[in-house]
Amino acid sequence: MDLVEVTEGTTKFLVPKQDNTEKFPPGTAPVFFNRRMEINRDITVLLMKCLSPSTYLDAMGATGVRGFRAAHECGIETTINEKDSDAVALLEYNSETYCRNIEVVHSDAKVIMNERRFDAVDVDPFGSPAPFLDSASGCAKRFLFATATDTAPLCGAHLKAGIRRYAARPLNTDYHSEVGLRILLGYALREAAKYDRGIEPLFSFAREHFVRIHLKMTNGAGRADKALENLGYIHQCPKCPYREEEKAVLPERRTCPDCGARLTPAGPLWLGAVSDTGIIRQMTEILPETELGSKNQIEKLLNTCMNELPSSTFYDYHRLAKTWRVSPKAIDTVIEELINSGWKASRVHYAGTGIKTDAPLKEIKEILCRR
Ligand SMILES: C[S@@+](CC[C@H](N)C(=O)[O-])C[C@H]1O[C@@H](n2cnc3c(N)ncnc32)[C@H](O)[C@@H]1O
Ligand SMILES: [Zn+2]
Repeated sequence: MDLVEVTEGTTKFLVPKQDNTEKFPPGTAPVFFNRRMEINRDITVLLMKCLSPSTYLDAMGATGVRGFRAAHECGIETTINEKDSDAVALLEYNSETYCRNIEVVHSDAKVIMNERRFDAVDVDPFGSPAPFLDSASGCAKRFLFATATDTAPLCGAHLKAGIRRYAARPLNTDYHSEVGLRILLGYALREAAKYDRGIEPLFSFAREHFVRIHLKMTNGAGRADKALENLGYIHQCPKCPYREEEKAVLPERRTCPDCGARLTPAGPLWLGAVSDTGIIRQMTEILPETELGSKNQIEKLLNTCMNELPSSTFYDYHRLAKTWRVSPKAIDTVIEELINSGWKASRVHYAGTGIKTDAPLKEIKEILCRR
């Protein structure tokens, strides 16, 4: 294996050489490493500095970058697990070369997660984390982190795969990325709740082709029941932009008050806040003194997430303008006009043209059409 040294944050490690002429360079090397996921890892490092976990399991290590960074940049006692023997050989070499105080385990992630417990557990597979969230929700004492890269099933583009993996109905709509994030959160909660545990989202986001969730795990039937109060459905009109939320175990049949069409339910999914504003504030505070490659993008993301309204859907205001046959004004003007009219309104981190607001559609229309 030809190796090259990479630095992320303040951590050095070796990764196999990739063929950068290929469309997806990580697919050309014997052990997986995706440079474009640096922001995903940077955010977890930043968050862990705020949470101070005592032990961390990187359940699917590959090169071990997450685990090495947790140990080196956050000072956490770290275990890196991997089932592939080439990856384990590289993990051991990386550990000997750069970071000797790491435990490397050659096992299936489900096996180690069923046998042992860690303060924080990170599940970062290829595609969907769904098959691992059962064992992970028992293994994680305080914190559970997971990445999903199966955005097509999560967001409704591959409907049947989404239903199979997440036992939920996604919806391919303007706000599909938010539906995907909320379906994953809802699924993680249902996996935890059967063990009388609940979840509290600390920082969750969707970006490019992945969804990342960071959860605090809570204990006891009461807390699980409390968390389950956030589970429910989004009812979307198939004919117009109208949508509404319903917190419930089973969805009702509902009709669009604007056009009379039968609404389509998506879910079950998480309807509560996807992040904790106190945590975002802490992350923002320590960001300037933290050495991270994607600092500027993180600053922007944290700022947007801090101000993003907690409602479960957003409007693509370009799409609304097209529906109402008007040319769109600047997004900040629309938000300002909504706020000046007494409504709440914000941008969203999911899309540059997304707006969240508690204003009813007829008010949004009035503002978008006002010249
Ligand atoms: C997406 S990569 C992990 C990337 C890494 N965490 C990073 O940030 O660069 C997924 C890794 O999980 C490993 N893997 C897949 N299924 C596994 C399982 N059941 N148990 C342990 N490792 C597994 C694969 O061999 C692969 O190295
Ligand atoms: Zn309608």
